[in-house]
Amino acid sequence: MVPPSTKAEIVDVGFAHKALVERLSPGGRYIDVQSDIDSPWVPFGPTAMIKHLAFDVRSNTFSNVLWVKEPGVIGTHLHRGTIVMVCLHGSVKYLEYDWVASPGGLILETPGESHTLMTDHPEGVKLFGWMQGPIEFHDEWGKFVFTADVWWFIHHYESHCRDNNIPINQKLYL
Ligand SMILES: [Fe+2]
Repeated sequence: MVPPSTKAEIVDVGFAHKALVERLSPGGRYIDVQSDIDSPWVPFGPTAMIKHLAFDVRSNTFSNVLWVKEPGVIGTHLHRGTIVMVCLHGSVKYLEYDWVASPGGLILETPGESHTLMTDHPEGVKLFGWMQGPIEFHDEWGKFVFTADVWWFIHHYESHCRDNNIPINQKLYL
């Protein structure tokens, strides 16, 4: 039996370790995406932007919305960790795979995969991502260029904030 869903009521569950949770847990939170109040759009190449949503340095985890504003490509990259993405708007595909993601669709990527993201939708694509582990970008000859990990994403966010007098939002740091 599932619990009743007709009553909107806060219930004290009497969790035995509540004091420990209050002392040690980073806590849940809400980060707004529709506005720029919690996090600004930060340029990522000439036609893409990233809205950073969360950083966890302990697990090398980062969350953001990637917005490719027009038909274009995010270059070939190799994952060392696990990626969960949801297509929010537009559509996206990879040159290596035969599927096209549309809004609401779930994309899973696993360590060791390398691929090349492309959108040919006239409005590009918006992708929500919950991502763990380094992402290694390579140039068109397969030569390693740089690693995007939690430190790279934090630097991407903080340097943009510093350059534009935007306060750093502590809510983004888990
Ligand atoms: Fe990827």
